[in-house]
Amino acid sequence: MAQSKENIPRHVAVIMDGNGRWAEKRKLPRVMGHNAGMRSMREIVRRSSDMGIEYLTVYAFSTENWKRSEEEVGGIFRLLVKFVDSDLEELYRNNVRVNVLGDWRKLPAAAVDRLEKTIERTKENDGMCFNICLNYGSRAEITDAVRELAQKVKSGEIEPEDIDEQAISGALLTGKFDIPDPDLLIRTSGEIRISNYLLWQIAYSEMIFTDILWPDLDPDTYEELVLSYKDRDRRFGGRNK
Ligand code: FPP
Repeated sequence: MAQSKENIPRHVAVIMDGNGRWAEKRKLPRVMGHNAGMRSMREIVRRSSDMGIEYLTVYAFSTENWKRSEEEVGGIFRLLVKFVDSDLEELYRNNVRVNVLGDWRKLPAAAVDRLEKTIERTKENDGMCFNICLNYGSRAEITDAVRELAQKVKSGEIEPEDIDEQAISGALLTGKFDIPDPDLLIRTSGEIRISNYLLWQIAYSEMIFTDILWPDLDPDTYEELVLSYKDRDRRFGGRNK
């Protein structure tokens, strides 16, 4: 059934967790879990776009994920290349614009190459904005924003008093891409933590933590989770009644 737009969050942020456990449960190598996770991500992108969500932001690789084995890290980036090679034209046709947030130019060359291609190919699209966080950490993002604002004060471009919440939001990566704060954050796999993800931006986001492992999250269940948002009473610290 078609949903009215007001029931749908404009921006959904997702922590795609549980790929490793999905694989371990099946006695498969962890990278097979990421492969299943990539398939799940593909379905969730399609469904989000069909539902009319304006912004979908996924946490694909954190600055901490480098601590994993070379085999696993290499496997994730090979999957990223595979995803772009198989899905870029569909994303383009579906009018999806892809942005990448994080220090992604430090990824292996083949991944950087595919990401550049994706950004370039989809930059004129004006449908759903799909943001992939890669080599992303929220504290690093905030640190860079603070440094940038400090430089502007030093050069006389702005005064210290000009640094307000709006200026900080604008200096974050999300601000540079005009991405509004998430209305809803979903984390899969039963972990109840934020893991250095969009710390500033989720100040007023609704949150859903589900025990479902990311590769097991089917699009219908995802849609139900997203639509359960309409029952929440968002007050932003104020009162509605
Ligand atoms: C978290 O599960 C998932 C990741 C660190 C990688 C996410 C990658 C994908 C969804 C597929 C590849 C797609 C792209 C765009 C790179 P985990 O391994 O931490 O799971 P665990 O907590 O069960 O070990």
